[in-house]
Amino acid sequence: MFNPDTLARFQSVETPFYYYNLQLLQQTLTACKTAADKYDFHVHYAMKANFNPRVLELIRDAGLGADCVSGNEVRKAAEIGFGADKIVFAGVGKSDKEINQALDLDIFAFNVESIQEIGILNDLAGAKGKRAKVAIRINPNVDAQTHHNITTGLEENKFGINQWELSDCAEALKNAENLEFIGIHFHIGSQITDLNVFKSLCVKVNEIDQWFSERGFSLKVLNVGGGLGVDYHHPDDKAIVSFEDYFTIFDQFLERKPGQEIHFELGRALVAQCGSLISRVLYVKNGLKKNFLILDAGMTELMRPMLYQAYHKIENISEGYKVEGIRKKDESLNAEPETLTKYDVVGPICESTDCFGKEVELPESRRGDLIAIRTAGAYGEVMASKYNLREGVNSVYST
Ligand code: LLP
Repeated sequence: MFNPDTLARFQSVETPFYYYNLQLLQQTLTACKTAADKYDFHVHYAMKANFNPRVLELIRDAGLGADCVSGNEVRKAAEIGFGADKIVFAGVGKSDKEINQALDLDIFAFNVESIQEIGILNDLAGAKGKRAKVAIRINPNVDAQTHHNITTGLEENKFGINQWELSDCAEALKNAENLEFIGIHFHIGSQITDLNVFKSLCVKVNEIDQWFSERGFSLKVLNVGGGLGVDYHHPDDKAIVSFEDYFTIFDQFLERKPGQEIHFELGRALVAQCGSLISRVLYVKNGLKKNFLILDAGMTELMRPMLYQAYHKIENISEGYKVEGIRKKDESLNAEPETLTKYDVVGPICESTDCFGKEVELPESRRGDLIAIRTAGAYGEVMASKYNLREGVNSVYST
C-alpha cells in the first residue's frame, strides 16, 4: 500500500525503479530482533537477498550480523560496518583470493562446504600464520517443500557435506591445525512456508550435534541457516512474518547444550516486503484472446517470475485507482466499481519468458499508468542484469 505522498513522488521519478519502504524495514527488523533476543539467538542477515547500501545500514544498526557468499559480499559487509566478529562466509566455491581476503579480516566463521575445502582453508590460514574458525555445512537431506530451484538441503544438491562423509570430515578437522572447528551449519532452502520443515531440520541438527559430541567434539555454534518464507499474495496484510512462531520452533525442538550458541541466516523474511518494483505501462495490446500490458520493466529488473515461476502481486497504482485493484469513477462512496480486465503483464525484453504474470486482473489500464510489482525487496534488485544492454535500475526510498 502506498500513501498519497509516496504516489505523488513517484510521478516525477524515471521508471523503472525499486521503491523501499524503510519504515517497514525498520519495523520488520525490530520484530525479528525482539523475537530472537528472547531466546538469545544470533541472526546474520543473508546479504545476497539485498545489498542496497541504505538497506544494509539499517540492518547493521539493528545489530544483526552478515551472512556472505562471496569475497565481495564479505568486503562490503566490513565496509558498511558489520563487525568482523559478526560476519560468516558460506559458499560452495570460495576462491583462494576470496578466502585470503576473509582471512585478513579475521571473520567470525567460514562455513565450509566440502572436505577438500577444509584442507585448502587450513593451508591458506597456515600460510598467513592464522587460525581460522570454521563451521562445516552439512547437507541434512531434509526436503524444504519449496520450489525445486531454491531447495538446497537434499543429497542431489551441490551444497554442503553429506552425512556419509562425516567420519572423513571429522578426521580432516582433527588434522587441520590451523582451523578451529566451532560448529555445524545447515541451510535447506528458501521461501519455506511450512514451519514443520524446520522441526525436521531441528531433529537432524540434534542428531549430528550428538554424533560429534560422542566423538569428543564440543560444538559452540549451531547455525541453522535461513529460509523463512513470506506471503507474496498478501503484501499489506501480512507485511511482517511471525518471527516469534519461527524462533519458538527452534527453542522447542533444538536440544541446545550448555553454552551453545544458535545462529540464523535470514534474508527474504527481513527485506522482501519493504521493496516494490515500480514501472510504467508503455503499451496496451488488445488481442482476440489476450490483452497485454507492456511495461518498461522486465526480467532484467526482476527475474523471479521468469526463473522460478514466482508469484508477485501486481497493482495499478496510478492516480484515480484504488490500490486494491478496483477503480472508482470518482471518489464518492456511491461510485460504481469498474470491471476488471485480464492482462498478461510483460516486459520489453526480447524473450517470450519475459512475463510477470498471466491473466492478471487489473482495472482497465492505459499507457503511462504506474504499475507496482510487490514483495520485490528480496532477490529483486540484486539479481538485475544488463541483458539487452539495459540501463540499470534506480532506487527510491520512503522519506
Ligand atoms: N544462508 C545460505 C547459506 C543461503 O544460501 C541462503 C539463500 C540464505 C541463508 C538465506 O535464505 P533466505 O532466508 O533468504 O531464504 N534467488 C532465490 C532465493 C535463493 C536463496 C539462496 N540462498 C529467490 O529469488 O527465491
